[in-house]
Amino acid sequence: MIDALTLADLEAMAEARLSRMAWDYYASGADEEITLRRNLEAYRRLALHYRVLVDVARRDPGTTVLGQRVAMPVLVAPTAFHKLAHPDGEVATARGAGEAGTVMILSTLSNSRIEDVVAAATGPVWFQLYVYKDRARTEALVRRVEAAGARALVLTVDAPLLGRRDRDVRNRFTLPAGLDLANVDGDVVAARPGDVAESGLAAYFASLLDPSLSWKDVEWLRACTRLPIVVKGVVRPDDARRAAAAGAAALVVSNHGGRQLDTSPATIEVLPRIADALGGAIELYVDGGVRRGTDVVKAVAAGARAVLIGRPVLWGLALDGSAGVAGALAILRRELDLAMALCGCPDVASISGDLLG
Ligand code: GLV
Repeated sequence: MIDALTLADLEAMAEARLSRMAWDYYASGADEEITLRRNLEAYRRLALHYRVLVDVARRDPGTTVLGQRVAMPVLVAPTAFHKLAHPDGEVATARGAGEAGTVMILSTLSNSRIEDVVAAATGPVWFQLYVYKDRARTEALVRRVEAAGARALVLTVDAPLLGRRDRDVRNRFTLPAGLDLANVDGDVVAARPGDVAESGLAAYFASLLDPSLSWKDVEWLRACTRLPIVVKGVVRPDDARRAAAAGAAALVVSNHGGRQLDTSPATIEVLPRIADALGGAIELYVDGGVRRGTDVVKAVAAGARAVLIGRPVLWGLALDGSAGVAGALAILRRELDLAMALCGCPDVASISGDLLG
């Protein structure tokens, strides 16, 4: 078991454990990392106007997402290349997520085969999709994840090109030999030869992924799969409404963990406006900067059905494989349980907007 009381403890321990290139890849944001910090700081600025004298002797943080039961409103966000953190990679992450009773969202950029991940998971697995310029390749990937038993497709819409992460450029980020993209023909990610310094992942994006993706492609994807589509990466109410109109089953308010457009707003800041614009038409989730149980309460109070957790899961994975992932999620669950009790909220339905004042 990892000796960590908080996710901040886990972070410090993981930094000491990971290689410089892996740590920088996971930890970094775009450019000056203003949005990366803003996501975190925005939660700290919000106050919780707790309710008193509510019977909270029994508490249940459970909820559902897309009709699937989860033990708490916390899902595992899609993040890339888990074998940089642990040799068991995404298979271990799925085990840890299952142990915590929640959904694992597997990235297109994963080092483990979706079939192995679904086999190891005891909870639902969703698949995050990047759309390739080669649509036949994209369709083949969709068919494969459907056949493997994925329960939803999470379409990332904030990355026509990869944001510039200076740390990755300086490190000339490359996947170590032996690691590849296990669900996409074993593609490799390497910096291109030549004297222009760049991130190997940015080069991969620019050469293979489709920057022409547009709203009509959401409809194309809808026609191409029977899985529910979750649109991830929206920070504006008008885009949220368009996603609902295009047939998305759910939306993730996300700025990609501050890794894409620097100086974009903190997700918790824009969440209430987006929740208002959607008026409950589709499910709404949020990611970016959630590090405490009180942050989960704030996100739910601001209109999210669930939050997605990215980096802290990787820290747990780096430290102790599947047990580390389960441990990271257990820290958050413990904190959420206490925050709900102290807010006068015995269940998720009672976490309402007035808690934010
Ligand atoms: C991949 O999606 C990344 O943000 O690095």
